[in-house]
Amino acid sequence: MASGIETLAQRGAVLAQGPSLAEKFKKFMADPHDPDSNPSGFIDIGTAENHAMLPEVAAFMNKHPVHFKAKDFSYGEGPMGTLRLRTAMANHMNRYFKPREPVDPMHLHFTNGCTSLCDMLGYTMFDEEDGILIAQPSYSGFPIDFGTKAKVRLVHVPFHGVDQFSVAAIDKFEEALKKASSSGIKVRAMMLCSPHNPLGQCYPVDTLIALMQFCNKHRIHMISDEIYGTSVYEVPDESAVPFVSVLSLDYEKYIDRNLLHVMYGMSKDLAGGGLRLGCLLVRNEVLATALNAINQFHWSGIANDLTAAQMLEDVEWMESFLKTSCERLASRNALVRQILDERGVPYSKASNAGFFMWIDLRKWLPDTNGKGERISGWERERELVERFFDNKLNVSPGESQSAEEPGLFRVVFSHDERVVREGLRRLLEVLDGK
Ligand SMILES: Cc1ncc(COP(=O)(O)O)c(C=O)c1O
Repeated sequence: MASGIETLAQRGAVLAQGPSLAEKFKKFMADPHDPDSNPSGFIDIGTAENHAMLPEVAAFMNKHPVHFKAKDFSYGEGPMGTLRLRTAMANHMNRYFKPREPVDPMHLHFTNGCTSLCDMLGYTMFDEEDGILIAQPSYSGFPIDFGTKAKVRLVHVPFHGVDQFSVAAIDKFEEALKKASSSGIKVRAMMLCSPHNPLGQCYPVDTLIALMQFCNKHRIHMISDEIYGTSVYEVPDESAVPFVSVLSLDYEKYIDRNLLHVMYGMSKDLAGGGLRLGCLLVRNEVLATALNAINQFHWSGIANDLTAAQMLEDVEWMESFLKTSCERLASRNALVRQILDERGVPYSKASNAGFFMWIDLRKWLPDTNGKGERISGWERERELVERFFDNKLNVSPGESQSAEEPGLFRVVFSHDERVVREGLRRLLEVLDGK
């Protein structure tokens, strides 16, 4: 029987070849690890979720359930999110991001996740084949979010050893922009991931200012993805930099307000990935109108919306939730540092944000594959990924995160302590060649 692929459009036929998130989830979910009920199951220390705080959200919601009204099952206020949620989120951002100009609920656009926001920005801010500048390495979702439908190209900025969190990195952005322009790519925006995923570091104020000035000079948008903004924790390393939101700076001194947009959401800090709620602060009326014209395709449900509002409105609970979250992240991070130090595995010492650490396994890249054939370059990293997989472990490889060279991995440590220990045990076992 024919596959039926000939009945699809060309773009459908391309998509039918994958990859798909559904397939990825299937792999991990078939035999998920549980320290008590399934200790030999598959461990995923690749996906970034605030695992250790999920029970706190469930407990809060079970204690404070949303009481729905009949109108909550209608189309309600439309796709932008209820005014209740937008007000709750504006208050939350005003409390934790310390903006100079208070966040106005009318400037917040909710969608079913930041993933959708990137897709929408890709569609409204760019023409096909236009470029978005992004520092290497970068969150693995961005090429898919911007590229799949909107066909935006990621213009990666390599740093060749220059500290990408320093002002000196601006020259690298200039070089990448120049190179893209000379090959006919129109760059329309920079994606700033602050705090950075996967590096887990925050940007110093002088670098944020220099990046804004760079965007302003070239009249390109800056999208500041601050989705990990309140997952910043204590670390022993003195080089760690505290998180500063671009909103807290006197940013109009450095960039046209129409060019600066801030992304946030429920998925990370607030342990609500399943709520599917992301928001964008847009003070640019034209962009806001364009986004509103397609938001009905990315609408989250009112039940999710009101659940999120319920969490955000309980200011006392939120304060203690975020405190506990940061304490747990700090303690897991310390555990990972200790285990890696004991084994002499290098990692990014200045990381103090997010749920992950960027670790350096270049020394352990294999020279041969399973068939004993010599391998080189990214093949060596893929071989290590396969070995982890065979040891029932998923770790995010640098290749999927646009790393500059093979051998760097992102390890997620926001799990229960026993899961972190077992995950790292399996990882080290592979490095030991067992
Ligand atoms: C930096 C960053 N931005 C955006 C997202 C997507 O978030 P959402 O769950 O809101 O789609 C992720 C998810 O991993 C992320 O790490």
